[in-house]
Amino acid sequence: MFRRKRGNRRQNQGRHLITQLNPRSPISEQYRTIRTNIEFSSIDEPIQLIVVTSSGPSEGKSLTVANLAVVYAQQGKKVLLIDADLRKPTVHYTFRLDNLRGLSNILVQETRIEEVVSKSGVDNLDVISSGPIPPNPSEILGSRRMKKLTDQAREMYDVILIDTPPVNVVTDAQILSNIADGSILVIRSEKTEIEDAKKAVEALESAKAKILGTILNDLDKSSSTNYYYYYGQN
Ligand SMILES: Nc1ncnc2c1ncn2[C@@H]1O[C@H](COP(=O)(O)OP(=O)(O)OP(=O)(O)O)[C@@H](O)[C@H]1O
Ligand SMILES: [Mg+2]
Repeated sequence: MFRRKRGNRRQNQGRHLITQLNPRSPISEQYRTIRTNIEFSSIDEPIQLIVVTSSGPSEGKSLTVANLAVVYAQQGKKVLLIDADLRKPTVHYTFRLDNLRGLSNILVQETRIEEVVSKSGVDNLDVISSGPIPPNPSEILGSRRMKKLTDQAREMYDVILIDTPPVNVVTDAQILSNIADGSILVIRSEKTEIEDAKKAVEALESAKAKILGTILNDLDKSSSTNYYYYYGQN
């Protein structure tokens, strides 16, 4: 059975994005480096639709994907962030949206994309929050309507980023990575077990996902001072 620690509502409501609040900080610079690495990871076939996932819960998928969406938008790209974690969605907390309508509405009732897209408050960044939580997320995420939605989004946006549940827990991220141009695996320092990370890579590979790389989240700054200085500030 699907089970994850219940989200702390207050904690979720206070989610902040460093790339939005402090674009010149060294951490924001790290997100820009990740953006550049994604761009360089595939020269011949541009990466437009990107899934961000991790092996288990609370490794930083949602925080990472939201910050990546902001740095892409800051670059002047037209960006769409989709919350496809239909089990424990958080994008609406991050961007302070009501989430009355969202992805699940498009997938269940064939709502038009324009009706569920919200402004994020960041220039160039639109958001589709999860919408009401459906009883059968894997089934609707694997539906033809999901594919149709992403095809439509490809016409409207330069970059589409998708937040997902953990890949070792449910199949949703595998399903989505199959239709994406690339997938990114978030690994949380001192939390993610190496065996779990390997299992996640195998799961993505079995879904024929193109794994663009991994992001090491939450690395202890004191042990990586040089790394931070190396990238410096703008
Ligand atoms: N690098 C970090 N530094 C500080 N806090 C972090 C960091 N990464 C994640 N967190 C915190 O850890 C919690 C989980 O992060 P997040 O929601 O991004 O993870 P997730 O992988 O999306 O979780 P879930 O599996 O529940 O969807 C959040 O409270 C977030 O603010
Ligand atoms: Mg999340």
